[in-house]
Amino acid sequence: MSSAAPHAPMDPAIAVARTREDVVVGPVIVRHRLYSRLVHWAVALTFVVSMLSGMPIWTPLFGWMAHLFGGLSVCRVVHPWAGVAFVIASFVQFVEWISDMRLEPWEKDWVGPRVFRYMRYEEDDPRTGKYNGGQKLYFWAVSLGAVGLLLSGLMMWFPQSFPKGLMQLAYLIHDFTFICFAVSLVFHVYLGTAAEPGTFGSMIRGTVTRAWARLHHPAWYRKVTGEERRP
Ligand code: HEM
Repeated sequence: MSSAAPHAPMDPAIAVARTREDVVVGPVIVRHRLYSRLVHWAVALTFVVSMLSGMPIWTPLFGWMAHLFGGLSVCRVVHPWAGVAFVIASFVQFVEWISDMRLEPWEKDWVGPRVFRYMRYEEDDPRTGKYNGGQKLYFWAVSLGAVGLLLSGLMMWFPQSFPKGLMQLAYLIHDFTFICFAVSLVFHVYLGTAAEPGTFGSMIRGTVTRAWARLHHPAWYRKVTGEERRP
């Protein structure tokens, strides 16, 4: 007789979320399949390693962070390779998500005060699909930023190959892009966790509740469930 405890049956939604997304499974909706989640967490992990290993190289103010990697000389080796891994992961994420990230004409006002109205929960647009205008803009900003970090980072890796003026521009682009990333990431993590309960679960389990989908992404909810828009 085996002494092993019997396995609990796997949640059907988690099983479906291994390979499929945008489908209803019982009371929940699969939002991010396993592959998307793994790619997203690869982006997050490589970004954090790049950030922590890059900041002590940037300024002595963050020199204490070098201890996390065993010293500044280790950071100088780890940082460019972590950066390359981040760019590769971002490229895979770009390919995975681009089809959902086309900005609709009515979403163009997200470049402006609309963002602040969103932050204050002043409006929910019933036309919002799988991603809202702010998420789409963030996606494009991250993708463009990754290119900027790659090009400037490669130049900083091989400084002898480029003229001095161009090197100064590379430092400017690298530092500016990094600061934008770090600031926007604070908002991104806030919105993905505390501000909108249920969102973080979509990147862990892959699923969201119907109520979450109806509230934040009504058009996506209607499309996935087949429910008609109420007058
Ligand atoms: C480190 C902590 C992070 C957390 C907790 C987090 C959380 C999340 C969550 C929950 C989503 C899904 C949103 C939804 O389904 O509506 C998401 C999407 C996304 N994440 Fe992250 N993320 C993190 C790091 C990053 C990093 C480092 C990047 C890029 C540098 C990034 C880029 C994106 C993009 C482009 C999307 C799709 C657009 C969006 O939903 O804003 N994330 N993230």
